Amino acid sequence: MIMDYSRSFTTCFSKIFTAFILVSLPLALLPQTSFGSYPYAHCYTNTENFTTNSNYETYLRILNLKLIAKSSSSGFGVTTAGHYKNQKTYGLFLCRGDVSATECKTCVSDASIEISNRCPYNKGAVMWYNYCMLKYLDTEFFGEVDNTAFVYVWKRNSVSDPDAFNLKTRRFLGLLAEKTYADNNPKLYAAGEQRLENSTTLYGFTQCTRDLSSRDCKACLNDALDRLLDCCDGRPGGRVLGGSCNFRYEIFPFLDD
Ligand SMILES: *[C@@H]1O[C@H](CO)[C@@H](O)[C@H](O)[C@H]1NC(C)=O
Ligand SMILES: *[C@@H]1O[C@H](CO)[C@@H](O)[C@H](O)[C@H]1NC(C)=O
Repeated sequence: MIMDYSRSFTTCFSKIFTAFILVSLPLALLPQTSFGSYPYAHCYTNTENFTTNSNYETYLRILNLKLIAKSSSSGFGVTTAGHYKNQKTYGLFLCRGDVSATECKTCVSDASIEISNRCPYNKGAVMWYNYCMLKYLDTEFFGEVDNTAFVYVWKRNSVSDPDAFNLKTRRFLGLLAEKTYADNNPKLYAAGEQRLENSTTLYGFTQCTRDLSSRDCKACLNDALDRLLDCCDGRPGGRVLGGSCNFRYEIFPFLDD
């Protein structure tokens, strides 16, 4: 009895303590987002959910294993699992253009677990980490630009001259986008930096999933860049995370994080 009491007391206390930490820390440390917290996720709600122990759940597990296997040797992969309508699932992963194969595989495995916590019964979901994204749907989407899934992430503070800064950021990311969808760039990834007149330097990258043609990558990134103000107006750092392309910029070098 006494043991039970003390155990439940400890549990209760640690829950309160954890809740306290969870509430107080992120406010100070994390960037603000339109949608939950890192790692960022979007659950597609356009189809009915699957249920526990269904074929779809089994095929999703198989899909994730196949994607993880591919991620040990490539920074991008697509695959499917299942055969029949309402059971078949289509998935892809994309690692950021500069990460190693080992980092890529670790990231895709982590994402495959976390995505089922975030979107437990959704037939479609996409999740973005710093190093990779993982996405699946119950319909074939390879080669198509996804303009339904977007998550915005922005720094909480603001720059002193938002209009000038927005313009410079847009121009900088526009140049990176052009490199990203250039014909001789099969990775559909470009990163760079640009010094502003004062001592500030912009760092960023733009990237598309590699199932897209260079023309569709351009369309995707243009759409994402058009969201810059909605997302990150006057913010010294931000990301627009899409189902087919994404970008991030900061005023510090973040690609080695
Ligand atoms: C579908 O599942 C999600 C969790 O993945 C849940 O939030 C949502 O309410 C479910 N929708 C329906 C219609 O059951
Ligand atoms: C440098 O210029 C940018 C863009 O105009 C501005 O947002 C930033 O605050 C400036 N930084 C300093 C240190 O003055």
